Amino acid sequence: MTTMSKLQSFLLRWFLLFSLTHLFGPSRGDVGTASQYSPPYLPTACYGSNVGKLPTDNFFASASEGIWNNEASCGRQYLVRCLSAITPGTCTGRTIQLKIVDRSSTSVSRPSYEGTTMALSESAFAAIANISATEINIEFQQV
Ligand SMILES: *[C@@H]1O[C@H](CO)[C@@H](O)[C@H](O)[C@H]1NC(C)=O
Repeated sequence: MTTMSKLQSFLLRWFLLFSLTHLFGPSRGDVGTASQYSPPYLPTACYGSNVGKLPTDNFFASASEGIWNNEASCGRQYLVRCLSAITPGTCTGRTIQLKIVDRSSTSVSRPSYEGTTMALSESAFAAIANISATEINIEFQQV
């Protein structure tokens, strides 16, 4: 084998490994945006005034029309993490699991920013980003 073909074979192996990891490795979810919304959280489009349907850790969100899915999104769990924001250092780097309990277009309390993929409760937003941000870029994946 010449030096060149050894190098080519080495690169090919790494390329294949890289491709396989990306094709069959852990799913990386979708990229979207998130705003936050404040109390009052009830009544919700999913559960009315049933406070028992809100997760006890208060990690929940309202869904935009894009993921609302004709109410089918109610109760869905998502893993969510902040990717970036206009202000550097906004993201905490933490990944949280949250539950969809409301619809952004009809929530009693309005999202801090219009048109985001989801509006997070204050607790959920604070866990993944600096609470002074109104809009952040997120990675989200249904559990
Ligand atoms: C959050 O953002 C505000 C405004 O940009 C900044 O003053 C504050 O120091 C930040 N807090 C943290 C914990 O980074």
